Amino acid sequence: MDYIIKTQGLNYSYHNGQRALFDVNIAIKQGEKTAVIGSNGSGKSTLFLCLNGINKPQNGKVFFKGKEVDYSSKGLLNLRQSVGIVFQNPDDMIFSSSVRQDIAFGLLNMGFSNIQAEEKIKSISKFLNLESLLHKPVHDLSGGEKKRVSLAGVMVMEPEVIILDEPGAYLDTLNAKTVYKIIDSLSQKGKTVIISSHNMDFVLNWADSVIVLKDGKVVFNGKTESLFLNNELLNFAGLDEPPIIKTYKTLINKGIIPKNSPVPKNITDIEMLIK
Ligand SMILES: Nc1ncnc2c1ncn2[C@@H]1O[C@H](COP(=O)(O)OP(=O)(O)OP(=O)(O)O)[C@@H](O)[C@H]1O
Ligand SMILES: [Mg+2]
Repeated sequence: MDYIIKTQGLNYSYHNGQRALFDVNIAIKQGEKTAVIGSNGSGKSTLFLCLNGINKPQNGKVFFKGKEVDYSSKGLLNLRQSVGIVFQNPDDMIFSSSVRQDIAFGLLNMGFSNIQAEEKIKSISKFLNLESLLHKPVHDLSGGEKKRVSLAGVMVMEPEVIILDEPGAYLDTLNAKTVYKIIDSLSQKGKTVIISSHNMDFVLNWADSVIVLKDGKVVFNGKTESLFLNNELLNFAGLDEPPIIKTYKTLINKGIIPKNSPVPKNITDIEMLIK
């Protein structure tokens, strides 16, 4: 299996001396759905910013497709065309005056013509329900609308690796569902998708593998089911056991389903087990 992103002995401290990452060694497989989880302040956003070169680690290395990241402006421009990141806070990434200009920015930088860019903008806006906002100034939008504009700006460029820092934050149920659908369609297209989330139901249902951070250190890196079956580790990392897993354990303890039943990822899987 090919690793598209790898880190080796990554250490990162902020200017004020706050250490945020300690000896982080991770490897992310091409095409895999990876969730990075952990409590507030555990280092998720810091790690993401290291993966696309925005943060340069003081120690350690980041590799993209086997090559060490080149921190020259040209190297970073290339990296960012392949590794797109949607920031946790949309105010950190929207800088053009109108929504249309903002979504077009990356495309025009990549050399698309105005006509080509407009085609792509039309299609992503339809998908993300942004059509009525295209002419608006960005600073007039709500938090959720800004989040969708920032998602559109990265998704429209179709990078090979898409990193989404809490994609559901700021969004209402309907828009969150749309975003999760888009995330699924990206995976189906073979993109490598990396997400941070505090929504354990979503992580259980979506992720192939999980990286758990605690105080800037990786405390788990493996299959999603093995994490959620490990109560001790969940407690240690300050994470909740998803209700689906709780129900699964109860069904086993009461003898309703056999001990070695497959681990359910969602309510439909539970229903299938009971049938
Ligand atoms: N710009 C910054 N300057 C100084 N310290 C920072 C900065 N950004 C983050 N930190 C610190 O680095 C550590 C990791 O923060 P980070 O934002 O990576 O956590 P996180 O896991 O993304 O948290 P959250 O779930 O709240 O988004 C924390 O101790 C935080 O206070
Ligand atoms: Mg964060």
